Amino acid sequence: MYILGIESTCDETAAAVVQDGKTVVSNVIATSVQEQALYGGVVPEIASRRHAEYISGVVDKALEDAGLTIGEVDGVAVTFAPGLIGAVLVGVNYAKGLAYAAGKPLIPVHHLRGHIAANYLTHPDLQPPFLCLVASGGHSHIVMVEDWCRYRVLGRTVDDAAGEAFDKVARTLGLPYPGGPSVAAAAKQGDPHAYKLPTPHVEGKYNVSFSGLKTAVINEVHNAQQKGQTVSVPDMAASFQERIAQILAKKLLAAGADTGAKTIALAGGVAANGRLRQLVNDGAQKLGARVVLPELKYCGDNGAMIAAQGYYELKNGNVAGWDLNGLPTLPIDYQ
Ligand code: KG4
Ligand code: ZN
Repeated sequence: MYILGIESTCDETAAAVVQDGKTVVSNVIATSVQEQALYGGVVPEIASRRHAEYISGVVDKALEDAGLTIGEVDGVAVTFAPGLIGAVLVGVNYAKGLAYAAGKPLIPVHHLRGHIAANYLTHPDLQPPFLCLVASGGHSHIVMVEDWCRYRVLGRTVDDAAGEAFDKVARTLGLPYPGGPSVAAAAKQGDPHAYKLPTPHVEGKYNVSFSGLKTAVINEVHNAQQKGQTVSVPDMAASFQERIAQILAKKLLAAGADTGAKTIALAGGVAANGRLRQLVNDGAQKLGARVVLPELKYCGDNGAMIAAQGYYELKNGNVAGWDLNGLPTLPIDYQ
């Protein structure tokens, strides 16, 4: 079964064809990230406009690369929530028109469910149940994936998302957007023990909090400036990356130990972080759990992960009406 997946929740306009929820047949991404970098973050209006310009070319190319016509796919999956609403609506409306005209089922996919499904592309034998940390620019969740379309949220951030913290710290250090890759690159040259950064206290055993950590970095930078000094960007990048990766890995592994999870996975843009991958890999091995990491190219936003999850949503009977609307927020365990 071939599913066409369409994604447009942030700054990537993406489409892909995936066979049976596991095999990527084509994967096309256009991005406005270089343009957004000029402003130090995503400007929603620019994102929406670029989606509107790129989407038909991206979808056509995904079908062409797959060697299929729209008549030959079995469903059109689209991210309908959560995301920048103007951006989401471009994908939703395009998918609606395409599916309606071709007489195909329209499959609504939750963005974070898509991120989790990126793991099925890299590990075709992976099956629920498994424990997953989903960390992106907008969300940080520790989730038990109980079944293909059933989730139990064990913990979440009480303030900033992990990716957002990377982006804000990058901006404070004068590093370019998106912050995750630029902080990780700077950290390679730095000493992770150079600056003592706090582990913010948070209620809830598996919850995380990053705003105190981010503020600690900002304060260090300002204090140094007031004394006419500068912080070492590589050392601060390395210290911050070490602290945030330790916090995320510790909470995920605690949830893994308490639930006796046999498989522990990562998902979302922040899952590309090398230090986080290493800590989770080492910790999960100590627990005797299998570690599942998505390939780097499927960590960030892409259409293949939406097509993969779309396959399971369709099998689960989750087909949208022609009145499908986009939503800026929606819990991953929505009914
Ligand atoms: O999942 P994603 O591509 O888009 C959202 O759904 O938000 O995640 C983007 C986030 C950004 O905040 C970006 O800075 C972060 O993922 N990110 C990283 C890395 N690559 C991307 N964070 C840490 N380390 C990385 N290597
Ligand atoms: Zn995402």
